[in-house]
Amino acid sequence: MRIHDPRIVGKLGELHVELQQGAALADLTSLRIGGTTDLLRIKKHESLPDLLNLLDANHVPHKFLGGGSNLLVGDGELPWVVLQLIRPEPDVVLDGNLAHIDAAADLGRMITFCAKNDLGGMEGLIGVPGTVGGALRMNAGAYGMQIGSYVREVKLYRAATGKIETLRGQQISFEYRHTSFAPDDMMLSVILELPSKPFKVILEGIRICNEKRRSSQPLGQKSAGCIFKNPPGASAGRMIDELGLKGLSVGDARVSDRHANFFVNAGHASAKDMLTLIADVRERVHKSFGVSLENEVVVWNA
Ligand code: EPU
Repeated sequence: MRIHDPRIVGKLGELHVELQQGAALADLTSLRIGGTTDLLRIKKHESLPDLLNLLDANHVPHKFLGGGSNLLVGDGELPWVVLQLIRPEPDVVLDGNLAHIDAAADLGRMITFCAKNDLGGMEGLIGVPGTVGGALRMNAGAYGMQIGSYVREVKLYRAATGKIETLRGQQISFEYRHTSFAPDDMMLSVILELPSKPFKVILEGIRICNEKRRSSQPLGQKSAGCIFKNPPGASAGRMIDELGLKGLSVGDARVSDRHANFFVNAGHASAKDMLTLIADVRERVHKSFGVSLENEVVVWNA
């Protein structure tokens, strides 16, 4: 979707929003799949309510993009614009055991920065690509930990009220790959309370998680991490593997040979290829195991 109206373009400038016309979303997602649309990059959190009012008043639908690492975007010209926060400098400020983090901060860099300051707890998430905001929205987790356990408070743009709000404690719930945030809420910043640990100890934890990840996941390839959530008490990857589906392909979309719950873009896969592969694998798992796998990857299809 393109914003041509010079009135809207002018107002975006006033709101400190950078307009990048015809951005290729394939360049902004780890799967390297996705069509084109206008990208609105936001410098100031405070301008969000006015920006959203402007878009709503002009019937411009939108979606919020984080790091694009858990996302499958549709092909062709997309029927909505994309909003993304510009990362400020610094993006992490420490105050004792509290880390004040901008949602646009890179997750891995944030974990390393905190580690160097003897704050741990997040070792399991090292190697998970994406932004802190994205990790928060879906309660990213690995190796027995999840980001939600450390959250003290979250500042977000609440679509339901049209305001920037701060939520704490009981106002947010974190479950397995699920949170109480609404799909159209936009994470702005978070305060994590992290346990004190010597840098050396954190580093050892990071080394172990890195090794486990390297030995079981296709890290060098274009993917969105795990495609399906694990059903209660079972492993989606193991079920797909047991059916002998590693290597199954639709065009360049392919079930990884290394981890069956990772689907990789082995070349120039389209969203259509990937969606067909996802539907096919889901159906085969359902037929054999009677389990209906739920997507873990977020799909933005027109
Ligand atoms: N397995 C197979 N074949 C495969 C893949 C896995 O037999 O192709 C078996 C493994 O041998 C193991 C079991 O399935 O016995 C579980 O596999 P793994 O330890 O790799 O963990 P997972 O349940 O597949 C989850 C998360 C990952 C996270 C890892 C490590 C989900 C959907 N996935 O994977 O998260 O990195 O644990 O904690 O919860 C992601 O969220 O995108 C993601 C990759």
